[in-house]
Amino acid sequence: MALILPSNSTTVSLLAEKLTQGELVAFPTETVYGLGADATNSKAVAAIYQAKGRPSFNPLIAHYPSQEAAAKDAIFSEQALQLAQAFWPGPLTLVLPKKKDSKVCALATSGLDTIAVRVPAHPVALELLKACGTPIVAPSANPSGFLSPVTAQQVEKGLGLKINWILDGGKTTKGLESTIVDCTTDTPTILRHGPLTLEMLAKTVPTITESFSHQEHAPKAPGMLLQHYAPHCPLRLTITNPQPKEGLLAFGSGLMPLGFDYILNLSPTGDLQEAAANLFDYLHKLEDLNVSGIAVMSIPREGLGEAIHDKLKRAAHGSHPH
Ligand code: TXA
Ligand code: MG
Repeated sequence: MALILPSNSTTVSLLAEKLTQGELVAFPTETVYGLGADATNSKAVAAIYQAKGRPSFNPLIAHYPSQEAAAKDAIFSEQALQLAQAFWPGPLTLVLPKKKDSKVCALATSGLDTIAVRVPAHPVALELLKACGTPIVAPSANPSGFLSPVTAQQVEKGLGLKINWILDGGKTTKGLESTIVDCTTDTPTILRHGPLTLEMLAKTVPTITESFSHQEHAPKAPGMLLQHYAPHCPLRLTITNPQPKEGLLAFGSGLMPLGFDYILNLSPTGDLQEAAANLFDYLHKLEDLNVSGIAVMSIPREGLGEAIHDKLKRAAHGSHPH
């Protein structure tokens, strides 16, 4: 059962500690309530998907107390810096190249080489983020497919049985998720509309545009515009027979298929949350071993298994030979 704590200096430091220990904490921002986890802790991030019941691993937004803190994980172009200076703290999320030495786990960014970052304008959120000292990823604090919560009570209604901690900072002022701008290309592009409009952003960066598909058929989820992780080698699913120099992504404690040159086990005990936490990390590790391809053992489809399947299917579809 979730505990709703009114925000003050004591509860903020308590919940910052819970976050750094790997627990989930729902907290207010000026847009909507977020379900926070330590971005550098892949098990904690996996717990977010578990709690939300998300059928797939969308990349998450990493939250920081300042632009300087965000610059530890993301590379800011000149235009990105201008937007940050003009609108942070505020309801603006920037998609930027992820730094190679970033400690944000691969699951948080769905294995992509970009990262979405934001400095929220809510005083309670800023205090919490300062106290954590680690980036906090937070999707809206609602079960998948439900409306984003703007009060602590709405969070409790949707996720009360799934999480322990809700930090109450009153009703959010914007009530609408942040505007997302992709700054990985020369022309910044709005990926998701939000409290900051094209006109407002264009005053700072005149070249900004809306993504084509947004104008044409307004997809409900920005995920539709998203690139998905794909390995540089072929990926085969539900495989038991090896090909030469192929690596195996294993699961569980059962009989292991024989003859693979490399084996990494997502979860020797068959724990789907642990498997989710290791998924992108191990795919990258196998790729780095220069395998000829990656074979994936059968993984059960219950719970987080569904999201794991979704990502693997897309990865298999998008994979390409060396
Ligand atoms: O206002 C908000 O942004 C709230 C508060 C809690 O900060 N958060 C939020 O998170 O709306 P979420 O997970 O519901 O939406 C994040 C969206 C995802 O749908 C995803 O498509 C996009 O951000 N996103 C994240 N990382 C991305 C990336 N590397 N490239 C493109 N889009 C990305
Ligand atoms: Mg959402």
